[in-house]
Amino acid sequence: MATLVELLRDRAQVPDRAVEHLQRLVGSWGMLSDLSFSDLLLFVRSPDGTFVVVGQVRPTTSQTLHLEDLLGREADGEEPALLGQAWLLGSVVEGEVTLGGRGEQVPLGRGERSRMVCIPVRCCGEVVAVLARQAPLVVGRRPGELERVYVEIFDRLARMVTQGTFPFPVEEPLSNEAPRVGDGVMTLDSAARVEFASPNAVNALHRLGVYRGVLGARLDELGIDHSPVPTAFSQLSPASLELERGEVAVFMRCIPLLDQGRATGALVLVRDVTDLRRRDRLLLGKDVALREVHHRVKNNLQTISSLLRLQSRRLPPGDARHALEEADRRVRSIALVHEVLSRDTTDAVDFNEVLPSLVRMAEDMSSPASPVEVTWDGEAGELGAQVATPLALVLNELVQNAVEHAFSARAERARPAHAPQGHSPQGELPPGKVTISFARRGRDLEVEVRDDGAGLPEGFSLEESTSLGLAIVRGLVVGQLGGKIKMYNDSGTVVQLEVPLGQL
Ligand SMILES: Nc1ncnc2c1ncn2[C@@H]1O[C@H](COP(=O)(O)OP(=O)(O)OP(=O)(O)O)[C@@H](O)[C@H]1O
Ligand SMILES: [Mg+2]
Repeated sequence: MATLVELLRDRAQVPDRAVEHLQRLVGSWGMLSDLSFSDLLLFVRSPDGTFVVVGQVRPTTSQTLHLEDLLGREADGEEPALLGQAWLLGSVVEGEVTLGGRGEQVPLGRGERSRMVCIPVRCCGEVVAVLARQAPLVVGRRPGELERVYVEIFDRLARMVTQGTFPFPVEEPLSNEAPRVGDGVMTLDSAARVEFASPNAVNALHRLGVYRGVLGARLDELGIDHSPVPTAFSQLSPASLELERGEVAVFMRCIPLLDQGRATGALVLVRDVTDLRRRDRLLLGKDVALREVHHRVKNNLQTISSLLRLQSRRLPPGDARHALEEADRRVRSIALVHEVLSRDTTDAVDFNEVLPSLVRMAEDMSSPASPVEVTWDGEAGELGAQVATPLALVLNELVQNAVEHAFSARAERARPAHAPQGHSPQGELPPGKVTISFARRGRDLEVEVRDDGAGLPEGFSLEESTSLGLAIVRGLVVGQLGGKIKMYNDSGTVVQLEVPLGQL
């Protein structure tokens, strides 16, 4: 599907400045469509003189006339004549056209007549496109007041389009919470007095505590902060404000209506956003609570870790003491992830924040007789807690294995025969190197832990290994994360992990 910019470039060679103008028009024309209760089409003229549809919007206030996507289609039937006239004259031209001429499906039925108003779009003094409003022919029905007022505002905005003052040169960044025509509409006269207020606008004013008649009054006289109004009138561009009264919040947007460079009135859109704000507050509360939970989990894990350490120190050196030290390290590696989670507002951690402490923990365990240096490269990126926690445990085991098993033989060889165990060798022994690498491939995270030590013992098999460390690694990577593990020798030991992130 071609974008507006592609269509403008490929079909009509529209200059850059005009491209931005048309993009801004299309960015804010939902309001025009809603005010006119009509489908709007944006036509540009290609070099051979044909008119091509580059934009289409349907009203949310009424039924559409076009069931199909018209982007890229050429004008046909009576359309080119009307469009051409508007283009040449530079003023609004109105006529009747037959629907379904391009062979498209139309709700009124093929061959029905509809009204088409062609509004030339001017940018920097030149007509660069034509905005077409298409609506069914209304026979014998008088529009209600609301409809009449809305169409009147549309006509004023259409005049601004023709004069080159709509869209505004600088568009405010609008969230999807910004009010739309259906939310509530007021119009102000040139002295900023309310001329009209739609039922929804009156409701919003009630919520703000305004119960007296609003017609003929200025918003500040009604006791509400009207600051966007003078701003819009003086700066000739839209201004917004969120009004608050206790729990109630109302979003107000004031759009000046200009004629010949002067503000002749304004359109004020209002939306009661109280429920949205309440939801925001709840979400914010949930965020804080979640962080607090992670903080407490971390504290509890640290308490468990200290208990294990205290207990291990009471034991003589040996298997039992070693096992308690290992358990302590495993608990601490989980605590690291909760520590990072307790700092962030999301339920995800940047894993590169967990790594330094994890690595320091392993390096501290290496004996002075065989120093080890752990480095890492690549970005693991943001990982959800459900991946980050097991991954921290797994890396702890793998790095620990390198520290414990890869370099011990070397230290043993370098140790002079008479020196006690753990004593530094006389000659400078370069530290053993362990590298952790991360790479994202598609929806997978690839992790490699590589050391330049002795390599795996002969006859080693991951599947048949019964010791606890690798059983934990297998259980977490294959069982919990649904990933794969490979272990092999390549000038040392290499462990490769593949962890799918998508399905979690
Ligand atoms: N990087 C490595 N270099 C050399 N040998 C290794 C390496 N990693 C693992 N091994 C071998 O694999 C064996 C199994 O490792 P595993 O982590 O399961 O148990 P462990 O480290 O001996 O004990 P623990 O349960 O305390 O971790 C080790 O005893 C060691 O022989
Ligand atoms: Mg181990």
